[in-house]
Amino acid sequence: MSRRLSAVSYDAGSGVLLLDTPRTSYSAYVGREDHIPIHTYWGPPITAEDAACLAEATTERLASEWPCFRSPANGHEEYPLDGGVQFGRAALTLEFPGAVRSVEWRLGGHEITAGAGHHDLVLRFEARHHDLTVALHYRVHDDSDVIDRWVVVRNDSATDSVDVHRLDSAAWVMPEQERHRMSHLTGRWAAETQLRRTDLTEARLVLESRRGITSHHANPWFAMDDGTATEEYGRVYSATLHWSGSWRMLAQRDMDEPAQVLLGWGHEGFGPRRLEPREILRTPVSSGLFTTGGFGGASHAWHEYALRHVLPGAEEVRPVLFNSWEATGFDVDEAGQRALARQAADLGCELFVLDDGWFGRRTGDRAGLGDWWVNGERFPGGLRPLIDDVHALGMGFGLWIEPEMVNPDSDVYRAHPEWTYHYAGREPKLMRHQLVLNLARPDVVEWVFGELDALLSANDIQFVKWDMNRPFTDPGWPEEPDRQGRLWFDHVTGVYAVIDALRRKHPGVAFEACSGGGGRIDFGMMARSDQFWVSDNTDAVDRRHIQHGFSQIYPARTMSCWVTDLPTFINKRRVPLTYRFHVAMAGVLGVGGDLAAWTGEETAEARRLIGQYKRIRHIVQHGRLHRLGEPARSAAAVQYVTADRSESVVLVYQEAQQYDSHPRPIRLRGLAEDGRYRLDDGGTTLSGAVLMGHGVIPSLTGDYASTLIHLERVT
Ligand code: DGJ
Repeated sequence: MSRRLSAVSYDAGSGVLLLDTPRTSYSAYVGREDHIPIHTYWGPPITAEDAACLAEATTERLASEWPCFRSPANGHEEYPLDGGVQFGRAALTLEFPGAVRSVEWRLGGHEITAGAGHHDLVLRFEARHHDLTVALHYRVHDDSDVIDRWVVVRNDSATDSVDVHRLDSAAWVMPEQERHRMSHLTGRWAAETQLRRTDLTEARLVLESRRGITSHHANPWFAMDDGTATEEYGRVYSATLHWSGSWRMLAQRDMDEPAQVLLGWGHEGFGPRRLEPREILRTPVSSGLFTTGGFGGASHAWHEYALRHVLPGAEEVRPVLFNSWEATGFDVDEAGQRALARQAADLGCELFVLDDGWFGRRTGDRAGLGDWWVNGERFPGGLRPLIDDVHALGMGFGLWIEPEMVNPDSDVYRAHPEWTYHYAGREPKLMRHQLVLNLARPDVVEWVFGELDALLSANDIQFVKWDMNRPFTDPGWPEEPDRQGRLWFDHVTGVYAVIDALRRKHPGVAFEACSGGGGRIDFGMMARSDQFWVSDNTDAVDRRHIQHGFSQIYPARTMSCWVTDLPTFINKRRVPLTYRFHVAMAGVLGVGGDLAAWTGEETAEARRLIGQYKRIRHIVQHGRLHRLGEPARSAAAVQYVTADRSESVVLVYQEAQQYDSHPRPIRLRGLAEDGRYRLDDGGTTLSGAVLMGHGVIPSLTGDYASTLIHLERVT
């Protein structure tokens, strides 16, 4: 397909906006009378003339609708406002003095700007009856079909505050079609990112997090098709939100109206968040994507966008890490960790991460959180002797922290009980014996930064695992009741501010985003992290489902996976070591087991597989990912192909053998048809055409059988 450059245009005469990405166009127009922007098109490229015709046709069509009991514009709005003749759920609900909720605006102007590799359009609307401006922002990139949208609200009044009840980043309007099948990610702790597909009927479908974190239970992403898209073919619309706190995704569709998906921060009824006089509030970005390449094509576009525009240092190759958590739990001390470090280095690990239990009086989960001083009984010389040892073994050193949290049994809580979320006169609910610090408070943000900065300045640390192990409850701030509604927004920006400042000051430190496993996986966190801890569930069978869902939007380069011990603590399942490695090798490989208990045979196999992973990880971490079959199918595979198509890796899994059937050939994807590829099975050479048209026949027998096939193009 020919590639064209991205562009944005706005015709002030007709009010038509047109966004062009390399392979798609997106169009809307600003209504003449009420200045409400109406969406008209999202799909393969069109011209400015097409866009103008669509605007005219839509204007006529909406004007011809019988207006009794309904608003003809409902469902078509680029950004539905609360107020006026509008009966759908709004993207923007503001409350002005006098309990007035209606927003009426007029277009004040527009701006078009260009930056390095992107073009921006801003439509600036002025409220008719208040000193307030709402700016709708659009950004297109030269190297992606993803469109970024966000909104900036400015309270221009010097005296009056405005209450924000809802401020979404975008409304995405779907084309009118017979069926709207919505793919989304659901789950819970230890079962994150489960892919589901459901039909959107004439109703509202709300997916949200009310927990203060992105959540294990839903992820801010969807893909919409007409029920016919497959992994390889079909028109798919998709969108996400770059946000790590509570959020809402609301899909709405009424009879004879288009489906419209609103995406924004804050769950339903969170607030309000008061916008003080002269205050400006910028929403997180919501990104949207249209592709004709099916669900696989949508994932490719998301992965490439993530690596080019979200993830810092995406070109780095992530090291194989060892993490102490499943090996030692809270039972950490210098001698034990030294022994583990030696064994980890012997396996070929490149980064040693000391998990929970090294600080304060943290000998279990009941005490110590918040006291970020090294436990002197466990580490009498501080962390330095262990760190020096780890470095001498040729590994980087990583440390676990949970900065947003305190145990009531901690020095910091005893000194500052008012720093946690709570309601006056009520006992705040403990979860995992801990309370959430109020990071909407600037003094708490400053304190957290100071503690972590001191830790990173005093120790030669290469990696930080930032954990967050409980959702918000009792979201009160009794000292400042007027600011209470802010916390759902300001806590997240507080977390971002701390990580951003730490990254600036300690550029050599990589961050792993974790929230009791995968409770905080989103583009907001990805923008300031190097990888995600995807789930506490390391059972290889469950993990394949979790990884399948994760891969719908997030790239393998960010997916941290460990091989741990048997039986797994989650379900007591026993899966052979090679299968477990092959599942973990589908992302950023790590090891998390009690290595002292591994047999000589297991250690040798682990060493061999880690060595193999290092030889192929550039393909897994930076190549294009193809899902070859659903995880429940035997045999299903994941394949990775380098950008120049010179190398590929296929990981094939047979969970359970049925009868005496042999696996069918697995048709590969993304290779050069006319290229010849050598398989690492002793030298078979096959053309790309054969590998993709006929496939490879994996030799797998029995249950939990797996194999890794490495292909290299020969000249
Ligand atoms: C939850 C994380 O997901 C685990 O990996 C581990 O770090 C524990 N917290 C430690 O408390």
